[in-house]
Amino acid sequence: MTSATTPRHVITTSHQRFAHLQARGSSPTYERLALAVHDDERAITFLSTLPPGKTQPNLLFGVMRWHDVPVENPAAALAWLHQNHDSVRAALLARATQTNEAARCAVLLPALAQLTARTDGPLALMEIGASAGLCLLYDAWRYHYTRPDGTTHELGAPGSAVELHCSVDGPVPLPTAVPDIAWRAGLDLNPLDPHDDDVQRWLQCLVWPEHTDRADRLRAGLALAAQHPALVRRGDMTRDLAPLLVEARRQLDVAAGAGRGAVVVTHSAALVYADLDERRGVVETIAEHGAHCLGAEGVTVLPELHRQLPAGVEAGGRFVVSLDGVPVGWNAVSHGVGGEFAQEQTGVAQDAGVVRGAVGLVQKGSRGPGRGGVHE
Ligand SMILES: C[S@@+](CC[C@H](N)C(=O)[O-])C[C@H]1O[C@@H](n2cnc3c(N)ncnc32)[C@H](O)[C@@H]1O
Repeated sequence: MTSATTPRHVITTSHQRFAHLQARGSSPTYERLALAVHDDERAITFLSTLPPGKTQPNLLFGVMRWHDVPVENPAAALAWLHQNHDSVRAALLARATQTNEAARCAVLLPALAQLTARTDGPLALMEIGASAGLCLLYDAWRYHYTRPDGTTHELGAPGSAVELHCSVDGPVPLPTAVPDIAWRAGLDLNPLDPHDDDVQRWLQCLVWPEHTDRADRLRAGLALAAQHPALVRRGDMTRDLAPLLVEARRQLDVAAGAGRGAVVVTHSAALVYADLDERRGVVETIAEHGAHCLGAEGVTVLPELHRQLPAGVEAGGRFVVSLDGVPVGWNAVSHGVGGEFAQEQTGVAQDAGVVRGAVGLVQKGSRGPGRGGVHE
């Protein structure tokens, strides 16, 4: 067992930031609970005996939900915590935050389609930090984009049990079709099997209490993924990426002809798990192998991207969408879909955001507090 511990100020700060920047306006239950933990000396003392990475609000609250603790009642939840330190410790050490959100495909799809339009063949798609692989299944979902004038645009799998609703704002180059994916694979420290009852329940426990639409989407998405699973390999993106990139190119050569098509590595809410040097190393490895890199991460996860954003974009809980080191969208709500897609720089996607299940767009340049990366 590791003897590493977490400084108290790291725990109090992370709970306060979580409450104010992530949960506020999205989950009043978790906002109250995070502030209650922040104010509870015993809870902070207990959490400070755990290693860094095991004290995050999402992880603790997921463990509480797993045990059917009434998270809407912070006093009762804290009382339960203090009666169960040993089992909570074991659960926090055993589990990890692995939230898998199919809706992120709607955020990334316009940029993926624009990229495809510039290539001469299909894609080999790789996702780092793939969890149960839902974000590899672009062609399994049905997409509904709503423009600012109220007109809609649909594409994707007809009759899919997972419908992703996305409102867009601005001159969005909405795709007419989901790109042809000739080969796909994920990489994750802990690949999750969508068939597995324990996996299904744990992923549900990671969905915030008020997000019932997300819970439904997850249920339907995992059922679809169980029928058409995407291969997710066990491995560390900071060490095991290069061989998979070589394999992706080889598979694409076989499927499409030598040198045709493009290898694309996607990442969403994943780079944040590595330290900054490792994140940069991942991005460099992708580029060195001639692959494209398309991601959605917290605004401050890659300073190189952060620096390129217009002033005032650092909205709490929002993601920036980037393609090959260039921000192409911002203000994406971290759990979902949406986007304002404008013609800038790469001419691809701009903002994206999910608002209570439907996807809402947030105007470029909207103001809000900044935030660091969050593990979910
Ligand atoms: C919050 S989940 C995001 C899942 C998915 N990308 C999505 O957006 O729905 C982050 C995932 O990254 C994985 N992960 C964290 N560190 C990793 C690493 N060094 N290498 C590979 N996967 C990692 C975790 O196991 C987890 O499944």
